Amino acid sequence: MELIDLRSDTLTKPTPAVREAMARAEVGDDVYGEDPTVNKLQNVVAELLDKEAALFLPSGSMGNLISLYLQAGRGGEVLTHQDSHILHYELASGSAIAGCQILGLPGFRGILTPEVLEPALRGPIYYNARTKLVELENTGNLAGGTCYSLAELEAVGAWARGKNLPVHLDGARLWNASTATGLSPAALSAVADTVTVCLSKGLGAPVGSVLAGTKVFIAEARRVRKMLGGGMRQAGIIAAAGLFVLENHRERMADDHEHARLLATALNSTSWAKVVVLPETNIVFADTTLPAQVIVTKLQTKGVLCGAMGENKVRFVTHLDVGRTAIDRACAILGKVS
Ligand SMILES: Cc1ncc(COP(=O)(O)O)c(C=O)c1O
Repeated sequence: MELIDLRSDTLTKPTPAVREAMARAEVGDDVYGEDPTVNKLQNVVAELLDKEAALFLPSGSMGNLISLYLQAGRGGEVLTHQDSHILHYELASGSAIAGCQILGLPGFRGILTPEVLEPALRGPIYYNARTKLVELENTGNLAGGTCYSLAELEAVGAWARGKNLPVHLDGARLWNASTATGLSPAALSAVADTVTVCLSKGLGAPVGSVLAGTKVFIAEARRVRKMLGGGMRQAGIIAAAGLFVLENHRERMADDHEHARLLATALNSTSWAKVVVLPETNIVFADTTLPAQVIVTKLQTKGVLCGAMGENKVRFVTHLDVGRTAIDRACAILGKVS
C-alpha cells in the first residue's frame, strides 16, 4: 500500500529536474564568497523580496536565530504570536544562544495587531526587559497556514515604526502566502526589516533558507552564520535546487491550496473531525472527537499519514509529492474512519 504522507511539506524528495539542476551547478567556496550559484540565489531572493542583500543558510531556524541575535540580543525582548515557530519549535535558541526573551501574544488566526502589541511594550523602568523586536510569521504554521492581509501587515508596520522597533518576518511559507493572496513576496515583506524564507518547505528544495535585509545587516549575519557553524563551502550544489524551485515550483502551489480545501471539506463531512479555520494555504488543522493519536494510527493503517498536534488536534499539510489522485484517495479514506 502506497502511503499518502501529509505530515509536513518538508518531506518532499527532489524531483529528477531538481537533481539535474544540482548536478550541473557551478560551484566555488562560499566562505570566500566565491560560489557563483549561491551568489546568484542570494541576488534573486534579495530582488524578489525587495531587500538590499540576502544570505543563503542551511535552515529557516538559523535565519530566525540570526535575526534575534542581531536585533534583540542579550536582555532584549521579542514580541511575537503565542503560536509562533520561534516560541515552540526552535529549542529556545533565542534565549540559549541569542540571549533574548520571547513574549508570546494572543491573536485570532495567528495574526498580531497593534492593539495586542501596544500593552506588551515595556515601559522605560530600569528593571524591565527592553522590547527590541517584533516577529511575524506568514503564513502562520500552527495557526493553520493563515495569511496576513496587506492592511494587517501595514498596521503592525506602522505601529513598530512608531516605536522604533525593527520587524523580523518568518516567511518560511511566504511563497504560499503570496500565491494565496496574490500579493508579491516584496509587498508581503515591505513591513519587515529582515525576512527569512525557506526553499525546503512547499517549494520542494531538499535544503536551504535565505535571510534578507540591508547590506549592513547581511554583512553582520554572515559573521553570525559562521559563528553558528553555518559557513558552507561548495553550497552551490544546494543553492541550485533553490534557484530551480523558485523558478519552477511557485505557480503550482495553488494546487496544494486546492488540495487542502478538498481535505477540509472531506474532514468536515466526517463524524470525528471539525476544521474550524478553513485552509487559506496548504495546512489543515482538524479538531477531533477521538484522541489525536488514535486518529493518526487509524489513518496510518489505511494509508494516510498526518500529525498529532495536541490532545485532540491533527494536522495535514499538502505538498508537491502528493498529487490530485492521492488527495482524492486520502479524502475517501478520511470518510472510512469512524
Ligand atoms: C513557520 C516556520 N518557521 C521556521 C521553520 C524552521 O525551518 P527549518 O526547519 O528549515 O529550520 C519552520 C519549519 O517547519 C516553520 O514552519
